[in-house]
Amino acid sequence: MDLHVEADSAEGRRAGLERALRDAVREGRLAPGEPLPATRRLAAELGMSRNTVKAAYDQLVAEGYLTARQGSGTRVAPLPPVAAEPPRAAARARAPRFDLRPGSPDVGTFPAAAWLRAMRRALATAPSPAYDYGDPRGRIELRTALSGYLGRARGVLAPPERIVVTSGYVQGLALLTRVLGDAPIAMEDPGLPFHREVVRHNGGTVTAAPVDAHGVRVGELGDARAVVVTPAHQYPTGVTLHPGRRRALTEWARARDGVIVEDDYDGEFRYDRQPVGALQGMAPGQVVYLGTASKTLGPALRLGWMVLPPQLVDVVVDAKLHSDHHTESLGQLALTELILAHAYDRHVRACRLRYRRRRDLLLERLGAGRGVRGIAAGLHALVDVADEEEALARADAEGLAVGRLGEHWHTAGPGGAQGRPQGLVVGYGTPGEGAYPGALEALARVLAGTGKPSSPRQAVPPAPELGR
Ligand SMILES: Cc1ncc(COP(=O)(O)O)c(C=O)c1O
Repeated sequence: MDLHVEADSAEGRRAGLERALRDAVREGRLAPGEPLPATRRLAAELGMSRNTVKAAYDQLVAEGYLTARQGSGTRVAPLPPVAAEPPRAAARARAPRFDLRPGSPDVGTFPAAAWLRAMRRALATAPSPAYDYGDPRGRIELRTALSGYLGRARGVLAPPERIVVTSGYVQGLALLTRVLGDAPIAMEDPGLPFHREVVRHNGGTVTAAPVDAHGVRVGELGDARAVVVTPAHQYPTGVTLHPGRRRALTEWARARDGVIVEDDYDGEFRYDRQPVGALQGMAPGQVVYLGTASKTLGPALRLGWMVLPPQLVDVVVDAKLHSDHHTESLGQLALTELILAHAYDRHVRACRLRYRRRRDLLLERLGAGRGVRGIAAGLHALVDVADEEEALARADAEGLAVGRLGEHWHTAGPGGAQGRPQGLVVGYGTPGEGAYPGALEALARVLAGTGKPSSPRQAVPPAPELGR
């Protein structure tokens, strides 16, 4: 037994042995239930008297680290029972009966067989340097494949040398925050609170970029140096950035050498019209484009990509290198195979059809009179309600988990939470195929008992001034 007992430490031999035993139990070197050597043997090994060892064992039994039972000797005590969770927290931690929380796609549709084939091909053909440290920007194979895919599917001008593969969108946002330094970063209000936290955790200052029915209000960006936007499908309101606002935003960036961070998290899923191209295509010198595999394949992959304007490439690559060298390479090679074999496009097309059907079912079930917004694209919709608290209490009683608009505002607003527009953020991509109809019925029951807001456009403020 390796106990690291200092032979003649100042604390004395017995105290030294007690501390060594305590440390070994705490650090897991001595596992719960493990028998300790007989006092006689340990005393001989350590050159101590048997009484000293026995006294140390007795002390640790008294402290609860060891147990001593007639016949089975001295053992490491079992782990203390974990305190029972308070019932409310436990209930929340349990998976809800019906899950319409936004944020995840139907992960049951992950194309495991195609991914396995792609990974097999990738490993069969990968050169041995692929298993070594590599380029901080990521594998050149993936950057080349993405360059073609993003140009074709999203209208992004993306030469491979300006692409950096990241561990999801969040890492791209974190890296950008670090390279932008002290400059204020405007983020959409309402917007995802987690992303504001990511910016703050990386030393950034967040300011509010108000959103109305045409998207972000460009005239209200204040002294921000950068603005983070979701132009294809604003999160959470679902608004598509108006063409006039697109122009105004790129003019804003050009005039002040500003940076537009385009979060294109669900741009592949557009249902009724031609896909709305990425903003990056209009201003590749001002826009940092961020894409992700989290909605198209699954968040577990942690694969995202940035397309950078030339002036930001070196600083972001340096930040990436000092963050984690580079993103894991083998998944990148598998994704390359998936894109080149057109299996990625096929999967996205199949998902688009499935989610469109779900979107249609949602509209059909809730009926025309209910304000359901942001339905042209993506995997979530915003449903107007008169009172979020009341609607969420009903949802809770139905076993339905659903998002709330209220948590997306930067601040509570002048009239407090109740003074803000009220809405539910419904993630219709989340449940498994079989679970969707039941979840939809539960939502319909919740809304049937919940008031509608009096003003028809309440959840998203109107756009008074087109173009700004
Ligand atoms: C608004 C928004 N942006 C980006 C993402 C993707 O983040 P990531 O690529 O880190 O999974 C999500 C995922 O939920 C999202 O809701």
